[in-house]
Amino acid sequence: MIREVLTYPNPKLRTVSKDVTDFDVNLHTLLDDMYETMLHKNGVGLAAIQVGVALNILVINPIDEEGEQKKEDLLEVINPEILESEGVIVFQEGCLSVPSVYENVERFKKIKVKFFDRLGNEHVETYEDFMAVALQHEIDHLRGHLFIEKLTYLKRKKFEKEWKKRAKEKA
Ligand code: CO
Repeated sequence: MIREVLTYPNPKLRTVSKDVTDFDVNLHTLLDDMYETMLHKNGVGLAAIQVGVALNILVINPIDEEGEQKKEDLLEVINPEILESEGVIVFQEGCLSVPSVYENVERFKKIKVKFFDRLGNEHVETYEDFMAVALQHEIDHLRGHLFIEKLTYLKRKKFEKEWKKRAKEKA
C-alpha cells in the first residue's frame, strides 16, 4: 500500500524514532509499504518517520550502472548503529520530504554499520560513497533531522525564502 509522505515543515519529521522490538508481520507490511511508496515517489531511500511511523527503519534502493532500480539491490535496515566512520564526501542530496530541493551535503565517505534485517538477523557491513551517503541521510531522519539542516547559513536562508514563496503559490 502506498502511504502518504510527510513533508517539511511537518513537526512529526523531528521525532526521534524508537527501536523495533517485534520482527513480525506488522514490520513486514510496513517495509513492503515503504518500498512501494519510495518507488511510487521515484525515491532511492525512505525512513519510516517519513510515512509517520516513529521506528528505526529505513529502506534504500540504489540505481545501478544500467540506470535500473532493481529490487535485488533493495537494502532494508532496522535499528541501525554507525560503528565506525571515515573520510569525507560531498554529494548532492534530495529528499522526498523536501521535494524539488537538491543541495550538496558533506558526509563521511565510508561507514561501518550494525543493523538487523526483517527477520531479526544481525548484520555488520561497511558501505562507501552513495550507499554510505544514503545511509547517513536516512539515519538522520531516524534521529529527527533533515539534510537541509546541514546547509550553510546562507543556503539555508535561501531555501527558507524559496520554500515560503512556493507554499504561498500553492495556497
Ligand atoms: Co530524506
